[in-house]
Amino acid sequence: MNTTTAHHTMTTMTREELLSEIAARKPWYQRIEFPEYGVTTTDDIENAYPDRAPDNQVEGLSPEQAAQQRPVPKWKHIEGVLPDVQGLDVLEVGSNCGFFSFKFAQLGAKRVVGLDVVPKWLDHARWCNEILGHSQVSFHNCDFMNFTGDPSEAHDGLLRHTDSHIPLPDDTFDLIFMSTVLDHTFFPFLVIYKMLRMSRRWVVIDGPVINTTKDEAIMKQGYALDGNRHGSVFTPYMFAMTFFRHGIPKEDVHAHAYNNGENMTFVVDTTNMRKGLIGA
Ligand SMILES: C[S@@+](CC[C@H](N)C(=O)[O-])C[C@H]1O[C@@H](n2cnc3c(N)ncnc32)[C@H](O)[C@@H]1O
Repeated sequence: MNTTTAHHTMTTMTREELLSEIAARKPWYQRIEFPEYGVTTTDDIENAYPDRAPDNQVEGLSPEQAAQQRPVPKWKHIEGVLPDVQGLDVLEVGSNCGFFSFKFAQLGAKRVVGLDVVPKWLDHARWCNEILGHSQVSFHNCDFMNFTGDPSEAHDGLLRHTDSHIPLPDDTFDLIFMSTVLDHTFFPFLVIYKMLRMSRRWVVIDGPVINTTKDEAIMKQGYALDGNRHGSVFTPYMFAMTFFRHGIPKEDVHAHAYNNGENMTFVVDTTNMRKGLIGA
C-alpha cells in the first residue's frame, strides 16, 4: 500500500460504497473505525463474527453486543494501562483486522508491524489501512511460532503461512503486543520467550486467565467447540512465575485485571531482563 492509494481511496469512495464493501467482506472479527465516514465495520450486527466474544463481555454486555463491539470494550481497559507508544517501534502478534495496530499508529507509534496467519484477516487489515492511510503500519503473513527468521533456511511455521518471513532477532521492537492470542498458541512458553527476547523495552500480553487469586502456577489445556477456551490458559501466578523464570525481576511485571478477574493485561518492562533462564 502507498499513501497515494490511500488518499485516492479516501477521496473517491463514498460512504455508501464503503458500507457496501464492508458488507461484502463480512464477517468482521473486529470493529474497525473509519472516523472520516462515521462508519465502523460492525455497525450492522450482521457483519460481526458471531461468537460469544467472552473477553469483551465487560460491563454487562451480552455475547451479541460483545461480538459486535469487539475489541472496543477491552481496548477501553488496555488503553489505560498501556505504556506511552509515542515514537516507538511496535510489533503486534495476531493483528487480525488491524484494530490495535491502527490505535498504536493513532497514538503516535513510529512503526507498527502486525503479524497474522489467516489470509482473510490480513486482507481485511490491509484493506482498512488503504482507507485509513497509516503509512507506518504494515501487515505480514507470519506464524510467530516459526523457529527461524532466516528466509534462506526457513521452515514452515507450526500453523501456516504463505509469504513473508520477517527477521525476528533480539531487541527488534520497543513494544510487543498481543491480545487474546497466547491462549491460541501450542507453545506459549516459546511465544513468551520470543517476545521477551525481541523486545527492547515492553511486552504487553492481554488475554483470559484462570480466575483465581491462589498462588498456584497452573496451566490448563483445553479446546472448546464454542470457541470459549481454545488452548493454553494460565493462572495469574503462572504468568508471574513464567516471567520470573525468563529473567524478569518481579517488580518489572505489572498485572491489571478486568472483566471481574476473567482477563488480565500484563505489562512487562524488559529493561532489566537477565541474560539467561532462571532455574534451568
Ligand atoms: C482470538 S484472535 C484475537 C485477535 C485480536 N488480537 C483481538 O484481540 O481482537 C487470535 C488471532 O491471532 C492469530 N494467530 C493465532 N496464532 C498465531 C500465530 N502463531 N502467529 C500469528 N498469528 C496468530 C489468529 O489468526 C487470530 O487473528
